Amino acid sequence: MEAGSRCAVITGGAQGIGRALAEELLRNQYKVCILDMNKDAGENAQTELNKAFGDGSIFFYACDVTKNSDLESAVKLCIESLGRIDVFVNNAGIVNEYNPSLTVSVNLTAVIQACGIVIEHMRKDKGGSGGTIINVSSIAGLVSLPFIPIYCATKSGLLSYTKAVAKQAEIAAQGITLSCICPGFTDTAFVQNLEDKMPDFSTAHKAIEHTGLLKVQAVTDGILKLIKDQKNGSILKVSANGTD
Ligand code: NAI
Repeated sequence: MEAGSRCAVITGGAQGIGRALAEELLRNQYKVCILDMNKDAGENAQTELNKAFGDGSIFFYACDVTKNSDLESAVKLCIESLGRIDVFVNNAGIVNEYNPSLTVSVNLTAVIQACGIVIEHMRKDKGGSGGTIINVSSIAGLVSLPFIPIYCATKSGLLSYTKAVAKQAEIAAQGITLSCICPGFTDTAFVQNLEDKMPDFSTAHKAIEHTGLLKVQAVTDGILKLIKDQKNGSILKVSANGTD
């Protein structure tokens, strides 16, 4: 790793918001690791982005974030490749109203596990240098959407968890900040594949037509702002009406 470059890890970084964020961070001279359970898309992102930004700019490790052993070994590999983790983005997420336990597992339990592992690495009293954790929640975590109640529960749970940990005096003392981004419907495969993920898709479709779709860039800009501001416990809403 070159002296001075910052190092970031993004879960669910093989496509969509995660991949766009990886590209944006590389453009900002970060070294990046992406973790994803989709091996083909992850390897493809690694090849294309190393070609664009130089070999060794980005590393991909296959990891199902719901498996704690996968997560632990993948974070270890990231630390070996990057030297350290300055920024960790919990971005992997799903919507599947037919599978509540999987939805809770990916969107909430895995994030809690990852925060635990990464906080240990970042702690100054354990030889770390502090750092920033960004959790990708959703507008659905702030507003109750009747067509995706389980997804709403996971994303509001994530807001609550992030704010509670951010308030711990110990976290600030260790130079660690946690914050959340809450995007509205965003133009990725996630939205394109919603139809099979809930019983009441027609209401979801109407809601998307009403609000419109955000460009991925609006979300990555918001995440970059959170990384730059480093305000512990920040919740940033990104919607068609703007960012607040
Ligand atoms: P996407 O479906 O395009 O990408 C999600 C990525 O996460 C995929 O590469 C997938 O393979 C990976 N993933 C899923 N389960 C995983 C697991 N168990 N282990 C490792 N990787 C896993 O979705 P998108 O739109 O990029 O979403 C990213 C985040 O943004 C999610 O947390 C989502 O809930 C959130 N979000 C998305 C919105 C949207 O409308 N697209 C709106 C608000 C929030």
